[in-house]
Amino acid sequence: MALGTAGYTAALCVMALQKHGVARGDGEVLVTGASGGVGSVATALLAGLGYAVTASTGRPEEKACLEGLGAACVIDRTELSAPGKPLQKERWAGVVDAVGSHTLANACAATKWNGAVAVCGLAQGADFPSTVMPFILRGVTLYGINCVFVDNAKRALAWELLAKHVVGPKLEAMTNEIALSRAIRAASDLLNAKLKGRTVVDVNQ
Ligand SMILES: NC(=O)c1ccc[n+]([C@@H]2O[C@H](COP(=O)([O-])OP(=O)(O)OC[C@H]3O[C@@H](n4cnc5c(N)ncnc54)[C@H](OP(=O)(O)O)[C@@H]3O)[C@@H](O)[C@H]2O)c1
Repeated sequence: MALGTAGYTAALCVMALQKHGVARGDGEVLVTGASGGVGSVATALLAGLGYAVTASTGRPEEKACLEGLGAACVIDRTELSAPGKPLQKERWAGVVDAVGSHTLANACAATKWNGAVAVCGLAQGADFPSTVMPFILRGVTLYGINCVFVDNAKRALAWELLAKHVVGPKLEAMTNEIALSRAIRAASDLLNAKLKGRTVVDVNQ
C-alpha cells in the first residue's frame, strides 16, 4: 500500500517514456511534484533505472530527501509554475508531470527534440496553457496516463518495475505510517501540501 495508485501511476509514466525511446544517456528527465506520491516514486524509479533525474518541488527542505531517492538535481517549482515562452531552451529528454497547468506547458516548451512528456496529474491546475510549438517544431510527444483502463499484462510490468527498483529502503524512506484516528488530520495536511511521499493508514490502530 505504500506504493498504492500513485506509485503504480508513476510506473506507467516511466514506461511511457521508455516505450517512446527516452534512454538513460539522453540527458535530464524532469519529475514535477517530486515530493508527492507520484513524484517521489517516479524519482526513485527513474533513478533506479539509471536516468539523470531533476526533481521539481515547492519544498526546498526536501532537497536531501529527494537526493536520497536518487535525484541528481533539485529545482524550485517556481521555475516552472508561471506563464512562460512557448518554446524555451531545450533541457529535458523526458518529463513525468503530476502538476499540469503552466508547469506542464513550460515542461513541454523545454523538452528536447523528439522528447516525450507523460502527464498524469493536475496538482497545479487542469488547464494546459500551451501552444502547438513544442509539438510541431520539436516533435515533442505528450502522453496522457490513465491508471484505470490498463490491461493486466501492462499492470504486471509496472508492478515488476516497482518491485525491482523502488521496493526496499527507498520506499521505506518515502513512507510514513499513521493510525486510522489520524487520517482526517492527515487528509487536511495533504490538501495543504504538508504531507510528503506516501502515507499508509493502519486501520487496526
Ligand atoms: N492519471 C491517473 O491515473 C492518476 C493516478 C494517480 C494520481 N493522479 C493525479 O496525479 C496528481 C499527483 O497525485 P499524488 O498522489 O502524487 O498527489 P500528492 O501526493 O498530493 O502530490 C502532488 C504534488 O504536487 C505538487 N503541488 C501541489 N500543489 C501544487 C501547485 N499549486 N503547483 C505546483 N505543484 C504543486 C506538490 O509537490 P512539491 O511539494 O514537491 O512541489 C505535491 O506534493 C494528482 O493530481 C492526482 O489526482 C492521476
